[in-house]
Amino acid sequence: MERSQTEATTKQLHAGLEGIVVAHTRISDVRGDAGQLLIAGHPVESFAPSVSLEQTVAILWSAAGMTISAQDVQRDLARSKSNVAPVVMGAGVNAMEVLRAGLAQLSSCGDDISDAYLAIATAPKVIAAWRGVALSEPAAPMAYVDLCMRALGVSSADGNRQALSTYLVSVIDHGMNASTFASRVVASTGSDLISAVVSGIGALKGPLHGGAPGPVLDMLDAIGEPANAKPWLLAELASGRRIMGMGHRIYRVRDPRAAVLEQAIAVLMASGRETPRLALARAVESAATEILRERKPDRPLCANVEFYTAVLLDALGIDRQLFTATFALGRIIGWCAHVMEQRVVGKLIRPDSVYVGPMY
Ligand code: COA
Repeated sequence: MERSQTEATTKQLHAGLEGIVVAHTRISDVRGDAGQLLIAGHPVESFAPSVSLEQTVAILWSAAGMTISAQDVQRDLARSKSNVAPVVMGAGVNAMEVLRAGLAQLSSCGDDISDAYLAIATAPKVIAAWRGVALSEPAAPMAYVDLCMRALGVSSADGNRQALSTYLVSVIDHGMNASTFASRVVASTGSDLISAVVSGIGALKGPLHGGAPGPVLDMLDAIGEPANAKPWLLAELASGRRIMGMGHRIYRVRDPRAAVLEQAIAVLMASGRETPRLALARAVESAATEILRERKPDRPLCANVEFYTAVLLDALGIDRQLFTATFALGRIIGWCAHVMEQRVVGKLIRPDSVYVGPMY
């Protein structure tokens, strides 16, 4: 028996690391069967609409071992002055590539907290630069959500600020997802927090992770009206493509963040906003759930966070090319928390593999 075959029989392969626990965490808890998300112990349904981003930073980073208050966050975030040059990559460049390049220019300050503020303060500026807008330094300390609104070009119309804040908090952290894992792997080598955040951006960009909401909106546009949902979805599956915004590695029921975002859209509508895509989205979700249930009776595939992200961010007037970068504006806070938590663990993350190639 060749060496590779011997190893293959003694070492078990965990494709996609599915079901493998790689960390104990105090940052968030994803309960897949129950469809629950706890952010530092708080249910996302009540947490996301009621807590500011500064409070969330303080709660998550304190959970990760750094004692810090929301006032500290507001003051120190405003003090953190990035000096990145505008990222010029030519028209039509993917916004996530611009964000990745923009943050990669930063030099580490040498400590995680300073690096975290630097990365968080810089991300909105890079996104604004993608839109061709130079974000000037605010005269007085500005709430992070207001900075994000300016970066994304969200107007101050009634309800927008609350809706964006709810969105950003709802996606702030989500267990050991791919981008968080990528950030933790980099942090585990002893590298700096900026490098860990840049690796998180790279992972989030993929369509199986954070890259889905733009395609969800494209899908809704292509379907056009509820009556077209079923034939369109069947044709999509027949051509071998997946339905974007459906399915999840951990959830076996509907992603609880879908309901949070649906509710945020309803609040926007109550303040007079027209969101015609909501009714269509609900019809498409219902048709997709039914079709996928028939196709895969043993694998529940329900709406994930990206489905209603598309509808909410569109209602806020955000360019669909910026949807994943908007996700990053929230998740960057979670990545930073995980880097801090990983420092306490201090163990290099280094899985194993089995060589199955030829031997000479
Ligand atoms: N549409 C159609 N089929 C899907 C599907 C979807 N959205 N999601 C999963 N499936 C099918 C797969 O084709 C696979 O079928 P098979 O066993 O016949 O090959 C089965 O369900 C299991 O999928 P798998 O890729 O092994 O599950 P996973 O846990 O690795 O994947 C996702 C989870 C999120 C990557 C997957 O559901 C997906 O690709 N969803 C669409 C993209 C998306 O919305 N991403 C955002 C995630 S928050």
